[in-house]
Amino acid sequence: MKETLKDLKERRSCRAYKPELPPQKLIDEVINAGIYAPSGMGKQSAIIIAVTDKEMRDRLSAMNAAILGITGDPFYGAPAVLVVLADKKIPTFRCDGSLVLGNLMNAAHAVGLGSCWIHRAKEEFESEEGRKILEKLGITGDYEGIGHCILGYPAEGGIREAAPRKSNYIYRI
Ligand SMILES: Cc1cc2nc3c(=O)[nH]c(=O)nc-3n(C[C@H](O)[C@H](O)[C@H](O)COP(=O)(O)O)c2cc1C
Repeated sequence: MKETLKDLKERRSCRAYKPELPPQKLIDEVINAGIYAPSGMGKQSAIIIAVTDKEMRDRLSAMNAAILGITGDPFYGAPAVLVVLADKKIPTFRCDGSLVLGNLMNAAHAVGLGSCWIHRAKEEFESEEGRKILEKLGITGDYEGIGHCILGYPAEGGIREAAPRKSNYIYRI
């Protein structure tokens, strides 16, 4: 239990990665933590597209960069990307997907991997190219991109210390 609390407090976003792909077993442990996230009425509205194929990883990075209006890699060199989308038919879909992403990032930290939420999955999968990727995977429902959890071994300097917590975070009654 103490370890869980420590992990939750010490997880930080990682923004520089070693190029090697972590073992599939480790990635699967992270994914497994994601699929056990709570969801509104237990509807499990989210899905995860686990990308370890370099060509697809680079394609998503380029799509994300174009949306952001940059030419660099918005995935900071991370070799794996877990894209979370959620079914728009379920009223709690954005909350559900966000909780999956939270679990993924915390689990990544717990198994010694770096991670970071990368945004713009909505725009990415609303695009023609994004729709085609979903179609090819046989994903036919009305899914909205919630976010990417990039994943890999942290490179030096990739992780910054936590910002101080704001003073008015908590109100007690
Ligand atoms: C909804 C959301 C979107 C985010 N999008 C990005 C992003 O596109 N790129 C990025 O580098 N970090 C992104 N982040 C990471 C935040 O910048 C990061 O969590 C924040 O600075 C706090 O740092 P920490 O995660 O190390 O505690 C995002 C985080 C959240 C929750």
